[in-house]
Amino acid sequence: MKKQFKKIKQVNGELSLPGDKSISHRALIFSAMASGKSTIKNISQGEDVKSTMRIMEQLGSKITQELDQIVVEGCGFKGFKNPDKNLDCGNSGTSARLIAGLLAAQNFNSTFIGDESLSKRPMKRVIEPLMKMGVNFKSNQTLTLPFTINPPLKIIPITYEMPVASAQVKSSILIAGLHSDDETNVIESEQTRDHTEKMLGLPVRFENGKIISSSSKKYYPKANDYFVPGDISSAAFHIVLTLLSPNSELWIRNVSLNPTRIGFIEILKKMGAYILYENIQYSSNEKYGDVYVKSSKLTNIKIGSEIIPNIIDEIPILTIAGIFAGGSFLIENAKELRVKESDRIKSICANLKLLDLDIEEFEDGFSATGNIKNKKVVFNSFGDHRIAMAFAILSMLMESGGEVNDFDCVSISNPMFEEQINSIAK
Ligand code: S3P
Repeated sequence: MKKQFKKIKQVNGELSLPGDKSISHRALIFSAMASGKSTIKNISQGEDVKSTMRIMEQLGSKITQELDQIVVEGCGFKGFKNPDKNLDCGNSGTSARLIAGLLAAQNFNSTFIGDESLSKRPMKRVIEPLMKMGVNFKSNQTLTLPFTINPPLKIIPITYEMPVASAQVKSSILIAGLHSDDETNVIESEQTRDHTEKMLGLPVRFENGKIISSSSKKYYPKANDYFVPGDISSAAFHIVLTLLSPNSELWIRNVSLNPTRIGFIEILKKMGAYILYENIQYSSNEKYGDVYVKSSKLTNIKIGSEIIPNIIDEIPILTIAGIFAGGSFLIENAKELRVKESDRIKSICANLKLLDLDIEEFEDGFSATGNIKNKKVVFNSFGDHRIAMAFAILSMLMESGGEVNDFDCVSISNPMFEEQINSIAK
């Protein structure tokens, strides 16, 4: 559905956001793996996490809503049941890749399917390491979904150096590794989000500029009471809207402040943004707290390649901050953007070209220079939730307002996006 957004005059108020998508997936999977009952408070309301929840139920976990939390009855070590149907991951790469690691170590075959976008996304990155762990895959030539996992009798522990910076792949291997007595090690050159390591209490060491995370049976999850902090990647949209609106301020309460997720805030601060963290707390080793933001004048800075994995989901909204800031906005070393829910380099460039900005597209990034022409345009979401929300925010910042096509996809991560905006914006 096409949605129209009017220019916002001011942002003022306070928000508490539904739980972080990455932490919610893991809380569900680890609860379903454990023996006994776990509870999860403030789980994400997005469709992606619903895909994981449905699959955990198909595998035998009983999940019920009780007051303000969900209760998950876990299946225990290798206790999952053979699903009678294909496992539908919908649009969710995290579901497909993390659950592949889990089902690599069960006693039955399982077939994974996904929607049109997910069926185009690369799965070779999990197929390859899981095959080294003894798994057989039945898949197509392109190594994309659908695929069938045929687990070995015993998972083979491996030491694996990551060819791409991906927390989904790292987590998939570490989760499979939880089913062996011996240690599995994953080596990264660039640190990606570390929720799997933090939530399972896995050992992580830093050696010669590399990050090594390890798992084995002794870290197999136990039943737990999880609190999922608010989604910082959803908060990014509200933060940028506040920064760029006049006389505005916003508090976002109890939001995830995991250091591997707040790279975009650190970049915005270097660009001149006034952003503070307050009331820091921890739950299941995950840091969270309140964020205060107020209107700020921004200037573009050079964004280093080492921080790209840390800001990968926020590049669409950082781009909006960048085109309102002084100087050119430049993203390089971010080829991974091409294999997200849409080819995000292409999606961002196509939308920005509608505003007659000077846009250059590279294989691993893009640059944007010039001033926005305030003319009425219809942006395309390309069926990608983060592109839809980024260009909705841009529309709210333009004198003329703007429209976004195919806006429904925001429900993938944040179905309450519009209500949240309406509650803080005038
Ligand atoms: C995620 C990892 C990232 C991120 C995705 C969630 C996760 O993907 O883009 O939204 O929860 O592990 P990659 O591992 O493909 O970089």
